[in-house]
Amino acid sequence: MLYKKSIPQIIQEARESGEHTLKRTLSSTGLVSLGVGAIIGAGLFSLTGIAAAENAGPAVILSFVIAALACSFAGLCYAEFASMIPVAGSAYTYSYATMGEFMAWIIGWDLVLEYALASATVAVSWSQYFNELLMTFGLAIPPEFLKGPWEGGYINIPAIIIVCLLSLLLMRGTKESSTVNNLLVILKVVVVLIFIALGWSFIDSANHVPFVPTNEGEEMVKNGQMGLWSFLNSDHFGAFGISGILRAAGVLFFAFIGFDAVSTAAQEAKNPKRGMPIGIIGSLVICTLLYVLFSYVMTGLENYKSFEGDAKPVATAFANTGYTFLNTALIVTIIAGYTSVILVMLLGQSRVFYSMSKDGLLPKIFSDLSKNQTPWKTNLIFMVFVSFFAGFVPISDLGHMVSIGTLFAFTLVCIGVLVLRKTSPEIERPFKTPLVPLVPILGVIVCLVLMASLPIESWERLAIWLIIGVVIYWFYSRKHSKVRKSHRNP
Ligand code: ALA
Repeated sequence: MLYKKSIPQIIQEARESGEHTLKRTLSSTGLVSLGVGAIIGAGLFSLTGIAAAENAGPAVILSFVIAALACSFAGLCYAEFASMIPVAGSAYTYSYATMGEFMAWIIGWDLVLEYALASATVAVSWSQYFNELLMTFGLAIPPEFLKGPWEGGYINIPAIIIVCLLSLLLMRGTKESSTVNNLLVILKVVVVLIFIALGWSFIDSANHVPFVPTNEGEEMVKNGQMGLWSFLNSDHFGAFGISGILRAAGVLFFAFIGFDAVSTAAQEAKNPKRGMPIGIIGSLVICTLLYVLFSYVMTGLENYKSFEGDAKPVATAFANTGYTFLNTALIVTIIAGYTSVILVMLLGQSRVFYSMSKDGLLPKIFSDLSKNQTPWKTNLIFMVFVSFFAGFVPISDLGHMVSIGTLFAFTLVCIGVLVLRKTSPEIERPFKTPLVPLVPILGVIVCLVLMASLPIESWERLAIWLIIGVVIYWFYSRKHSKVRKSHRNP
């Protein structure tokens, strides 16, 4: 279980696989675009309003900064690994080199929660905005075909259609997908900028007051009317005040998920040593700036309370401004923006399983390449898997699973940096995580705190998923592992 792959071995294997290797087509700009494409999505366009209305008020701006800080610790650790081990597979490959085969398997298995389920989550939200667009033309999809049986419908048809279309696009090739992605990203960023620039002149500064709405529980603790423990377990925790800012940071963490998807494309980067840190840190910085400005404008246009229960606040943001045509433009862009998130998540998923299959931990079918050199069979299998979740499972359950799975992976990547600095200090690190061990340790702490803020059911589901993973490892992967075989018959 503790068999490790050495880093030179990992890089050598990637080189040797000759024509069966993935094509190196992505420039640094392409990688930043890939990151931004994966990051800006349902988190910004759906959750900002909800987090402002329920948790933080205008101080949601600070929550974005805190969530960004948490991601940047993990991002700096990802960048060290991705520049040092520039092959497909991301956190999975890094764990193979640092913590051994079993942990690598667990991480790879866990990443399904992040990539596959995030694409399903965003596909569900996509279907809602798509219906909103149809409504502007006087059409609408019957509600029972917009949600699954757990929410009183039958099946979410548009969510399944978008997952299938994008999976087919990925099967055509990364170059084509990257070009489509670049276009979508430009469109998305331009409209966010227009929203900020135009909205700026409509900001009513009265809406930003109070900046941090009072939390009654926090006041009671301060006045000695309530104990700290009772407060932590009460409904007051997270409803505005300081605790509200923290809870909102946990919710908005979803909005940053995706920067790590850049690292899954390391084997397709033209110059991974330079491109990986630029892609990861660059996309994180750009998104943080956009998010802070966006949330400042949004909470300035209307009172934060008006966003309560509204998962589509952006679609009507300009209703009272004389720029109503912008509403439709925003809906169209949000749909396009979601499309690129789903695309990158599906790409990341297939690349992780590609690497696991190359190592023998999964059947060969997952690493078979088409003549366009895409792992098309994996794309096809995940098309079915993701469609199932997008078609039937409620969005909130999906979202929590994504967050807990991602935070778990981030935690292990941060630990991995510490381990590898000790075990293999000699390996060349084109990009070094600064202030080691401080940054990785802070990364672990922040991720664990955010995991703790998630509901208990998500912990249970994570446990069930990991148990299934352990069973597969025991009965299949362990017996087919190439690393294990090479240790036995060197
Ligand atoms: N960060 C991505 C989004 O917000 C997952 O949609």
